[in-house]
Amino acid sequence: MPTIIDGKKTSAEIKNEIAARVKEIKAAGGKVPHLAAVLVGNDGASQTYVGAKVKACEFVGFESTLVKLEDNVSEEALLKTVEEINENPDIDGLIVQLPLPKHISVEKVTAKIKPEKDVDGFTPANVGRMALNWPTYVAATPYGIVELLKRYEIETSGKHCVVIGRSHIVGSPMSILMARNDYPGNSTVTLTHSRTKNLKEIVKTADILIVAIGKPEFVTADMVKEGAVVIDVGIHRIEDASKKNGFRLIGDVKFDEVSAKSSAITPVPGGVGPMTIASLLYNTLLSAERKVYP
Ligand code: GUN
Repeated sequence: MPTIIDGKKTSAEIKNEIAARVKEIKAAGGKVPHLAAVLVGNDGASQTYVGAKVKACEFVGFESTLVKLEDNVSEEALLKTVEEINENPDIDGLIVQLPLPKHISVEKVTAKIKPEKDVDGFTPANVGRMALNWPTYVAATPYGIVELLKRYEIETSGKHCVVIGRSHIVGSPMSILMARNDYPGNSTVTLTHSRTKNLKEIVKTADILIVAIGKPEFVTADMVKEGAVVIDVGIHRIEDASKKNGFRLIGDVKFDEVSAKSSAITPVPGGVGPMTIASLLYNTLLSAERKVYP
């Protein structure tokens, strides 16, 4: 039986650790960490995510500010909002929820966020620091995966790590993190993507497989080496009449058959997903305590 890497439990543990630290800070009369989230428009998924982030702040004892802007807000007005939060000394962390409406440049907005407050780890400065293995805010999903590997004491040194997908927020940073001279890290990394030839043959050689391709149940048992560690970043809703809400969630990995071959695997739901909010809270705490930019 494989080890089921339980992101729900691990995320709860991290949130409790952060809550305990906030209590200490408050008892010592220190500054309570404060996260600001900017939400543009009425995208349902974004509203749900931001709502969950605000609730998580309350749970650990952080302060939070939610700035809601209309769908048709100008780029200039959004940039001004970011600048105001940048300059507000009470706010430690700033996130602008993505995606943004088409008339707004994500690059311009991201570049405007002060790296010291960029707890999403999306700014060029913080991505660069990650690549250099300097203190930084690592983006929520990669940080969540790193933390799961650490807390489940997965050996990564000298292993062949195959990453499927090269997105800026998951595949690309994971390939950098797994190759760096650190733990988790020191893996030999192959970053695969839509132009990769012989994908199946490459994936079959993975000791650690990180799947962020965004295709439901893409990875099947015949693609996986016996004893591999499998991290599934995908999440998809599929219709299921037998469920009360009419759907169920599946990942990029065909869980039942792949788990039978793996030594450890993240489930969907309850694997990587719940870790992302814990990562954001952790980065906000780092910022409040000036651990990244002293
Ligand atoms: N949209 C989807 N994931 C994220 C995230 O981690 N941060 C922000 N700001 N927006 C997102």
